[in-house]
Amino acid sequence: MADHRMTAVVIVRSARAGDDEAIDDLIVRAFGRHDEAQLVAQLRRDGDAAISLVAVADEAVIGHVLLSPMSAPFRALGLAPLSVAPENQRRGVGAALIDAAIIQARHGGWSAIFVLGDPVYYGRFGFRTDLAAGFLSPYAGPHFMMLPLEDLLPATTGRIAYAAAFGSLG
Ligand SMILES: CC(C)(COP(=O)(O)OP(=O)(O)OC[C@H]1O[C@@H](n2cnc3c(N)ncnc32)[C@H](O)[C@@H]1OP(=O)(O)O)[C@@H](O)C(=O)NCCC(=O)NCCS
Repeated sequence: MADHRMTAVVIVRSARAGDDEAIDDLIVRAFGRHDEAQLVAQLRRDGDAAISLVAVADEAVIGHVLLSPMSAPFRALGLAPLSVAPENQRRGVGAALIDAAIIQARHGGWSAIFVLGDPVYYGRFGFRTDLAAGFLSPYAGPHFMMLPLEDLLPATTGRIAYAAAFGSLG
């Protein structure tokens, strides 16, 4: 018998208040622990969820990305966490979320996005370790990257810090 299943259409949109529980469940499943979901809950409570996007398929939340304001010499966001449901990974959902987040950050007038992650994964979106290397932060190192959103940033060095909620992440 023919298989009539269709690949679900994936929509990326801004998260709404009613999505909170589904997002938290998804993050726990993606990371296999509660730390990142607790981080997102704290960022929400602190009013630091500057950009929060969900990927939705068949009305289910299958992906999420959050960006929060950083303290930096220019208007910078920190991208974290990024979560895709285990059964939906490696299908471009993470990439769709990052692409949409970058567009929103540009529209919001942000100057740069920092991220801690795999340079091979984030490199394809333009994030660069060399551009983050001049900035002092507890996350500095070979996995710390920056994506500039303007041609000439006013600083290439300086002290930067993630939003307060990251201080309680183990
Ligand atoms: C990392 C993650 C967000 C990627 O989302 P995704 O939707 O699977 O990614 P995409 O489909 O856009 O990209 C897939 C590509 O990313 C790379 N990739 C995916 N997961 C990876 C991983 N864990 N490590 C390194 N590279 C990975 C691969 O190159 C893959 O391409 P391939 O399938 O051709 O080999 C997802 O795997 C996830 O939620 N992981 C658990 C949580 C996590 O670690 N989050 C990231 C840190 S904040």
